[in-house]
Amino acid sequence: MEQVKFTQMIDGDKEDYDFLTKHEIEYTKGTADRLLTALVDLDESLSGYQITRLGHSVQSATRAWRDGADIDWVVSALLHDIGDIYAPYNHDEYAATILKPFVREQCRWVVEKHGDFQLAYYGAHVGADPNKRDMYAGHKYYDDCETFCKRWDQTSFDPDYDSLPLEFFRPMVEQVFARPANDPSVMNAPDQALVNPDVAKTRAA
Ligand SMILES: [Fe+2]
Ligand SMILES: [Fe+2]
Repeated sequence: MEQVKFTQMIDGDKEDYDFLTKHEIEYTKGTADRLLTALVDLDESLSGYQITRLGHSVQSATRAWRDGADIDWVVSALLHDIGDIYAPYNHDEYAATILKPFVREQCRWVVEKHGDFQLAYYGAHVGADPNKRDMYAGHKYYDDCETFCKRWDQTSFDPDYDSLPLEFFRPMVEQVFARPANDPSVMNAPDQALVNPDVAKTRAA
């Protein structure tokens, strides 16, 4: 069987859907690879900064890595702006949706809200509310999102920063996206600090 027999889904039988499920499982194995390719495509998006969006992404991930952050944080930092390509007006939600089945809730939430938190740094210059983050006051991940933006996101537009290459992060992206999707043990995993000084020492540049 090379393709299904049906032209309307309602006519599909078990053989068709078993075939498609097998296909889908094979296809999802390439998710990490496709995401890394999309990150390279980011290189061409949104010019005007002193670094490209890919440069910003690897710089954010490098800062996370050097802060001693764990793999969920590092991969989240790397992919936090991946929505810029197709969802410029809700890029944060787009990235969070990609990450959701594979990282813990703490990281998903922070990626989803980072756009609102980032406004503290530039909202006043563009007629947006710099205090938009106040709507999340008291949320258990408020401080994490503040740290994410302060240490990894708003800082990562420096053309002179010695970022690690994208390939350095490939095994981490592959590991995260090889996890079983929507696994409660992953999504509900215990929260982790963004900054871990002991680990950071072992990763010092
Ligand atoms: Fe962003
Ligand atoms: Fe960013």
